[in-house]
This record gives sequence, C-alpha cells and structure tokens, in this order.
Amino acid sequence: MNPRIHTHKPIVYIISLIAALAGLLFGIDIGVISGALNYLQVDLNLSTSQLETVTSSILVGAVIGAMGSGWINRHYGRRFAILVSAVIFVIGSIGSAMAASYNTLVIVRIILGLALGVASFSAPLYLSEMAPAAIRGRLISCYQLMITVGIVLAYLSDTGFTHLQSIGILSAAQAWRWMLGAVAFPAALMFIVVLFLPSSPRWTALKGRDEETLHILKRIRHAHQVEQEFTEIKESATLAMPLRDLLRNQSLLKVIFLGVMLQLIQQFSGMNAILYYAPIIFGQAGFNQTDGMWVTVSIGAINVITTIFSLYLIEYLGRRALMYLGAILLFISTSTLAILFNSGLTGTNAMLAITSVFVFIIGFAISYGPVVWTLCSEVYPLRVREFGITCSTVANWVGNSLIAAFSLSIMKNFSVSGFFVMLAIIAILSFVFFRFFMPETKGVSLERIEKNVWANTPLLKLGEA
Ligand code: BGC
Repeated sequence: MNPRIHTHKPIVYIISLIAALAGLLFGIDIGVISGALNYLQVDLNLSTSQLETVTSSILVGAVIGAMGSGWINRHYGRRFAILVSAVIFVIGSIGSAMAASYNTLVIVRIILGLALGVASFSAPLYLSEMAPAAIRGRLISCYQLMITVGIVLAYLSDTGFTHLQSIGILSAAQAWRWMLGAVAFPAALMFIVVLFLPSSPRWTALKGRDEETLHILKRIRHAHQVEQEFTEIKESATLAMPLRDLLRNQSLLKVIFLGVMLQLIQQFSGMNAILYYAPIIFGQAGFNQTDGMWVTVSIGAINVITTIFSLYLIEYLGRRALMYLGAILLFISTSTLAILFNSGLTGTNAMLAITSVFVFIIGFAISYGPVVWTLCSEVYPLRVREFGITCSTVANWVGNSLIAAFSLSIMKNFSVSGFFVMLAIIAILSFVFFRFFMPETKGVSLERIEKNVWANTPLLKLGEA
C-alpha cells in the first residue's frame, strides 16, 4: 500500500501535537533565561560567573534527568514520564519565580532541568512509537518544531515583561520572576492534555498487556493496519535478553555509538553557542543592544520557519540528504564567519556576518535539529530503546553544557574567528561521519530497522530491506 499522508488517522496528528508540547517547554526553558539575566544581575547583585551558573544549572539537571528517564520509561511508561516532567516543570517554574536567593535559584533550576531531561527523552520516544512508519520522521520533527517555537515564545514573553518593566508597571525584581514563572502556564496545560493520551502500544506490549496494545492500535491505525503491526511489535517485545548480555552485543554497541555521535555532532555544531551568545558576540563586534535584540529575534524566527520546511523534506529527501545539506551550509557559514571576524565587522562585513549567521541557523534547522532527534528514536531495538535513548539524550545534554560553559572562553582565548574555524572543521568531520555511518531510515518500520540491528548489518545499511 502506498503510505501517503491521508492514509493516517487524524488522531495520530492530534496525539503528536500534544506530545510535542514537551518540546515547547524545552524551547521556552532554553530561551527564557537570556532576557532574565540583566534583571537577575541587578536584583540579586550577581557576578558574571554566578550568572553563568544560573544559566547552566538547568543543564546539569537535564543530564541527571535524562539519566533517570530510562528507568521511569521502562517501568511506568512514556506517557507517565511526560506527566512527571510536566509536574516538575510547574514546580520548578513557580520555584524559580519565588526563589529568595541566588543559591535557591540555582537549586530550583537544577530541579527544573530534571524535567527538561525527562521530557527530552520521553517525548521523541513516545512520538516514534505512536507514529506510522511513513510519517514517523515528520511527527518526531514536530517535537523539534515546538522547541523552536518555544524559543521564540520565550523571547517574545521576555520582551513583553521587559516592556512592562521599562514603563514602570513591574520592578526589576518582578520582571525576572514573571519571566521565569510564566513557564508554569504551558507546563500545566501540558499536564492536563497529556492525561488524555493513550499509552504507547510498544510499551504496553513490552509489559505483556496484549489486549491494551490491540485496543490502542485500533484507535490509532486503520483496521487493515492493526494485525501486521501488532504481530511485529509482539515479535520484538518478546525478544527477551538481560541487559548485561545485550551490552556485550556488538551490533547494539554500534547503534549506541551512532546515537551518541549524532547528538554530540548536533551540539558541537555550535548552534547553542549562537543561540545563547549571539547578542554578546555581536555586541563585542560593535553592534548595539537594539541590533542584538533584532538579530536574536530573527534567529528564532528563521529557526522556526526552516524547521517547518524540514517536516516535509525529512520524508521527501530523507534523513541523509538533509544531514549532508546541513553540514555543507554549516561549513560555508562558519568559515565565512571566521574570515569576517578576522578582518573586522565594519561596513558590508557586518551585513555579511549576520547573513552568515542566518545561513548557519537554516543549516542547523533543516537537518541536525530535527534529524538527530528522529534518528535517535528510531535506531534502537525495542528491548533496549530506553537504554539507547538514555545514552544519546545524556550525550545531548552533556554536549549542550560543554558548549554553554566553554564557548565564550574559547572565543576569549583563541579569538571569535578561531572559534568559527573550529566549528568549520567539525562540520567537515561530521560530513565524513554521515557518509560512512549514517543510515537512511525514511519510511522503514521500526521493526525492520531492529531486524537489521540484530543481524549485525553495517550502520550505513540499517534502513535497507
Ligand atoms: C537541540 C537544542 C537546540 C535546539 C535549537 C535542538 O534539537 O537539541 O540543543 O537548542 O535544537 O533549535
């Protein structure tokens, strides 16, 4: 049968949109802190390093949260894990808004990070298990789309509260508390809507709950699709082997390597250095505050718009083609930025530099952003999916923390230009990695990929029939 879009039940899209709300919270939490930093500095009298700690504390929590997620997902299911993350998001956001001191704020943001770790683990996993093979990439990319929308919403909400502060309605202390506390609203919304979602049929199958699995499949698939998918899911769910043995399994270690590498490549592309520090980088190059804001908002908007295109391209061109395209665009933009920063950002160079940053964002949003989360939810066999995704999600957050912690110092010690040279080299190495290790999984069922993994098929051919 031709797996075209209209052959899927509308409920699949609704479920995906709701689960992707976790991405929205991810994005809001990444984006919101930048606007709050100035007020925090004034109100709590924080030093630069304290501001860095406030920013990165959430990442520490995310690493820990991602580590614990496998356990929650295995024992209590994907839906339950998303609910837990929603509760922590609400508590963490209200806690941040009420934090009386620097220390409390850091602790509360570590707790908030736990939610981020759990959500970034569970939502793509849930989406991958609910989605029909033909549009799986697209539905998981909805999660990435929501991350980008969340980042923009955070910028806009920060801008709104900054405005209220500038016209005297809020004090500096109230402004940052509102910025951080406002995240509780979408988090509460997520909690309520996720309550109505069904469990993942692949998780219920793992738990041996066959009737429930069938019931869920009947809700989310057309009648003629249920039987075959049920049989395939059962087959992989019954492949019982203790984790210890699984870890001695070469083929499995290979896919774990693939997932970890892809997430590290995503982070070391430098996207978050641009997201977190673009205003600072351009500020040092002589841009004023307004220009900085303008660049930041445009970056957010381009990120969203490009991700929308990627939703189509991921099923049309496939995962590999997008990653190649991404690596090429990242190389062109970072090497141009290296040259421009080296020769000074005056006159046309300044416009060229901003254009290059936009090309960089397009390169990331068309490929590394959506494709990496997609691939990482696809390549692990069911029995070890939680463990595999734990490894890759932890790699994502560790990479994110390293970039947040060190990019500014690298720029300081080796120059901004040197930093972009580094990113350009990473883009070339990534291209080589994709060429030799990255499989094409477009339109292939999770069970087919799994069979290939167990047959010790080379990584490059994991998606082949
Ligand atoms: C990455 C985040 C990044 C975001 C930007 C995600 O895929 O994992 O680290 O901030 O994309 O859009």
